[in-house]
Amino acid sequence: MIITNPKIHQPILELVGEEADKLGIECYVVGGWVRDLILHRDSKDIDVVVVGKASADGEVPRWGILLAEAVAKRLGRGSHLSVFKTFGTAQVKKGDTEVEFVGARKESYRHDSRNPIVEDGTLEEDQNRRDFTINAMAICLNKDRYGELLDPFGGMYDLEDCIIQTPLDPDITFSDDPLRMMRAIRFATQLGFNLTGECFDAIARNKERINIITRERIADELNKIMLSRRPSEGWLLLDKTGLLPLIFPELAALKGVETMNGRAHKDIFYHTLKVLDNVAEAQGGLWLRWAALLHDIGKPRSKKYEPKVGWTFYNHNYLGAKMVPKIFKALKLPQNEKMNYVVKMVDLHMRPINLIEETVTDSAVRRLLFEAGDDINDLMLLCNADITSRNEDKVKRYHDNYELVMHKMVELEERDRIRNFQPPVMGDEIMQMFHLEPCALVGELKSAVKDAILDGIIPNDHDAAVIFIRQLAKDKGLETY
Ligand code: CTP
Repeated sequence: MIITNPKIHQPILELVGEEADKLGIECYVVGGWVRDLILHRDSKDIDVVVVGKASADGEVPRWGILLAEAVAKRLGRGSHLSVFKTFGTAQVKKGDTEVEFVGARKESYRHDSRNPIVEDGTLEEDQNRRDFTINAMAICLNKDRYGELLDPFGGMYDLEDCIIQTPLDPDITFSDDPLRMMRAIRFATQLGFNLTGECFDAIARNKERINIITRERIADELNKIMLSRRPSEGWLLLDKTGLLPLIFPELAALKGVETMNGRAHKDIFYHTLKVLDNVAEAQGGLWLRWAALLHDIGKPRSKKYEPKVGWTFYNHNYLGAKMVPKIFKALKLPQNEKMNYVVKMVDLHMRPINLIEETVTDSAVRRLLFEAGDDINDLMLLCNADITSRNEDKVKRYHDNYELVMHKMVELEERDRIRNFQPPVMGDEIMQMFHLEPCALVGELKSAVKDAILDGIIPNDHDAAVIFIRQLAKDKGLETY
């Protein structure tokens, strides 16, 4: 079969083919780029595999590096060549395009590591060692066979049938490189594909091997799952294959329903996944998706059955927010402002809903605006996504009240500029006013001003704050100057 998609005729690929012809070697574009070309997905990184003859002494020259050097020379200015001698690979960059060159290889693995022993091989051997049939297709770039598809495992059919399966026995493919279990689930989620039964069973059988994979690589795959259209699909597969408790025990702990006196609480795991999908559907960013996944993570620890009330989860938001840094550390997610944002979202996630359930006072809305700051829109999105009850009347009531809170928020923000609230009277000014040294009283006066503004007693402006503070000081018997 000849691939005619115009992308295969982009100048850089034609140039690679011409240089390979000059060196007398075969060369193919392979792997993810070919898959994405057929699926009409964007893909920048191009992997090229070369197959060349051995020299007279029986050694195979590093054809990947030689071809990369020739290509970089032809591309001239603006191109950049990096050579990785130990691996026998090289990379050429020009503008946005990156082409990686490597000799065809066969690999064998040891049991305790995912670092293979690598030897030169044929194209077919190179395709054999790849993870999935849809990632094992190659397209020839040599002039006389330009565009010819080499697809020994029927990857093209699997793309049509939306199937993920391995070229070899899946037990071998997954045991050789257990990261592929995560990749299988990630591709299924990203592309909306299904794992074959054999593939699924092999993951379940080999799941313990995930322990030899670094947490960073697992986190990369989890983030790709999170950024998919329906991230729940990935988490459900992780659960069903048994990988979930091995990589994220706190999430696995959300599973299950307990019943007491005939009263059951909802399954927090499935509720969480629904909230996550809702956030994804509303185009929430990666970290808001993590916040959605973690919003109820504190529930198992706070769960209690109280005969008069039923199941309660008091303070689960607070307990959950405290768990986030530990979870981020264990999963090797960033320990920076992104994590702080997730902590804040988990901590505040009940606030809008509590507001919605009660009468919506200006003062409560102002306080929420103050605490959420610039993240208020994300918090409201999370809160809306969290409304998953099956009771339609209840959902309607929530949504109506949600709109009311949103409306009030816009109105108050326009009037009082609470969102990035800075106290209109600073500590220094208070100290000058009353000739005070830094002390607890300064803080007290400052926070009294803040509360007065948030409660709507005074407007958010300097003069009103000064009058308020003078009055307060007088009540406390302080002398003004
Ligand atoms: N590959 C593999 N086993 C792995 C990783 C990669 O067999 N554990 C092979 C696959 O043929 C894959 C190719 O190397 O297509 C390139 O890998 P990579 O760039 O990591 O992934 P892509 O398939 O290109 O997909 P993505 O960019 O979405 O990760």
